[in-house]
Amino acid sequence: MLHGKRVLLIVSGGIAAYKSLELIRRLRERGAAVRCVLTRGGAQFVTPLSLSALSEDKVYTDLFSLTDEAEMGHIQLSRDADLLLVVPASADILAKMAQGLADDLATTALLATDKEVMVAPAMNVRMWTHPATQANLETLRARGVHFVGPAEGDMACGEFGPGRMAEPDEIADAVSDFFESSAPLAGRRALVTSGPTHEPIDPVRYIANRSSGRQGHAIAAALARRGAQTTLVSGPTNLPDPGGVEVVRVESARDMLEACEKALPADVAVCAAAVADWRVARAANEKLKKNGAGAPTLEMAENPDILATLSATANTRPALVVGFAAETENVVEHATAKRERKGCDWILANDVSPSTGTFGGEDNTIHLVSADGVEDWPRMSKSDVAERLADRIVAALGAAE
Ligand code: CTP
Repeated sequence: MLHGKRVLLIVSGGIAAYKSLELIRRLRERGAAVRCVLTRGGAQFVTPLSLSALSEDKVYTDLFSLTDEAEMGHIQLSRDADLLLVVPASADILAKMAQGLADDLATTALLATDKEVMVAPAMNVRMWTHPATQANLETLRARGVHFVGPAEGDMACGEFGPGRMAEPDEIADAVSDFFESSAPLAGRRALVTSGPTHEPIDPVRYIANRSSGRQGHAIAAALARRGAQTTLVSGPTNLPDPGGVEVVRVESARDMLEACEKALPADVAVCAAAVADWRVARAANEKLKKNGAGAPTLEMAENPDILATLSATANTRPALVVGFAAETENVVEHATAKRERKGCDWILANDVSPSTGTFGGEDNTIHLVSADGVEDWPRMSKSDVAERLADRIVAALGAAE
């Protein structure tokens, strides 16, 4: 199954381009999100409208389109995907890939990507067997490009031989196999907390904080993409559910703790939620009314610490428990003390002093504090923090075996 996987489908020029339409359906049936790039050659065989209707997404065609570039740069386009899939891959696009040419959106995305690439070649038998094409294939194979097909068979040009593109089902199977073998957390369970908590004052009022949940949601998505069976326990946010993740929605800190304990056992727990430290000791059952006696005084009670509780769970403590710390001064010192106080394995200390611009911003400046010491990460986006943390978790759980 391909739940949560994002495929960038590049449709290049060739009569087999019509099969890319069927492929989009096959991939989406398996749960993948498909976004398409159509080359000028590809547009001679299929229309952007067909691709857009089947992928239910915008189709990207033009490297120099200002609107496309404003919405999503070509670099972002290639990095947002988990796999770049070229179907059909013409002799021309394979040659450009081998040479590192970037003269349109498709080839630029292929050159700019940091993700793996799979191609389904389709061409005339003589073009396929030509030494130039064979040399290009060798170059691309050596670089780790994945191939599916071509098959031997009757061709649209009336000839017979290798060069006929693999069928959509076969390509979808190859994509599934690729993700299965690149799922280092397959068979692992992950628990992630995210968002703020809402602590009721009465049935209509609550105490909350400004957490958006973006960091926690991105971590859950990154773990799920690596194959972990992931439960995201989230306070109220405006974010869509990450693909391939089981989402449990809660309101208060106490609900969040209960949901987390229910989600155990897990191999790794990441507490990214901004849990309210206090709640109103006795929330009113009915709406508080103005009664002429002035403003009410709210008595507060301490909330359970979810990170500390998970770290201290007797039989089902996750092998790796990770927390966050927002600090404005003595970042590493405070985070080190917090790690010991809460009993977790790692603290991702986030420098939120005003000079970093982190607060309310897109980026984080992280120091990973563990028993082995401190690792300083460069300033990066919240989604890059999620990817890097997920890779560190893969390495740590692998080493723990
Ligand atoms: N946390 C939790 N349950 C709580 C409070 C915090 O699980 N009731 C977790 C958060 O998810 C986060 C870490 O603990 O992983 C943050 O701890 P906290 O003590 O709240 O640190 P700061 O927010 O940095 O606040 P302070 O420095 O005031 O302690």
